[in-house]
Amino acid sequence: MAVGVFDSGLGGLTVLDAVSRRLPEVPFVYFADSAHAPYGVRDADDVYNLTVSATERLFDAGCDLVVLACNTASAAALRRMQEAWVPRDKRVLGVFVPLIEALTERQWGDNSPPREVAVKHVALFATPATVRSRAFQRELAFRAIGVDVEAQACGGLVDAIEEGDMILAEALVRSHVDALKRKMPDPQAAILGCTHYPLMQEIFQDALGADVSVYSQADLVAESLADYLKRHPDKLGHGQESGFLTTGDAQKVSRHATQFLRRKISFDAA
Ligand code: DGL
Repeated sequence: MAVGVFDSGLGGLTVLDAVSRRLPEVPFVYFADSAHAPYGVRDADDVYNLTVSATERLFDAGCDLVVLACNTASAAALRRMQEAWVPRDKRVLGVFVPLIEALTERQWGDNSPPREVAVKHVALFATPATVRSRAFQRELAFRAIGVDVEAQACGGLVDAIEEGDMILAEALVRSHVDALKRKMPDPQAAILGCTHYPLMQEIFQDALGADVSVYSQADLVAESLADYLKRHPDKLGHGQESGFLTTGDAQKVSRHATQFLRRKISFDAA
């Protein structure tokens, strides 16, 4: 019984950490497509093809269920994969519906018509590809009315995090928050719409100010995965072992992952 967790690089580790805490008995196989990160500057076909081949590798590792712990892949590839590619006995889930359900005060799978919600001004920080897809706004419009979303594409931030250059990453967060605030001076809530960004959550919160609620995905996704597995225990897959796979330099990726999660992580070549 193993579940796959996929990201272009290290960002999905923020989700992996939360799902492993929530479901300690489940082995997780993590796949980082580090050789092709960042995805956020690629076009939708490219993101689709890369995500399909990574997901296939996780199926081969004994996972019947794969979580795309990557908003860029969830936005640019997930729907097409579900419609045209995912085999009947497998499942692929994305990460932003649980977040939007939390923001719009909905229970899992509540498909009632859109309604007014408490937050009116929302800042979205995401990769250029996720912002371009408008997938957040589309999912939000299914659930809420009257919410003004201002999106800020955070160019360069994923590269800086992947390289472990936290000084550059901090400077980029502050300048992207400044740019957002020029368009929307008083957001009530901010969505960290890229799984790399929770690694910089304190800086986002500091730059936005204490009165802005910052939503990130990890715990929300963990809760919704636990709920999904309760209802679909057959999707646990036949794999028995946890593991970390990367298409990049395994030593370098392990070093950066260990630094981020503050525990020893060893990646193998995918
Ligand atoms: N962490 C990913 C996301 O949530 C991918 C970022 C990237 O590769 O550009 O969007």
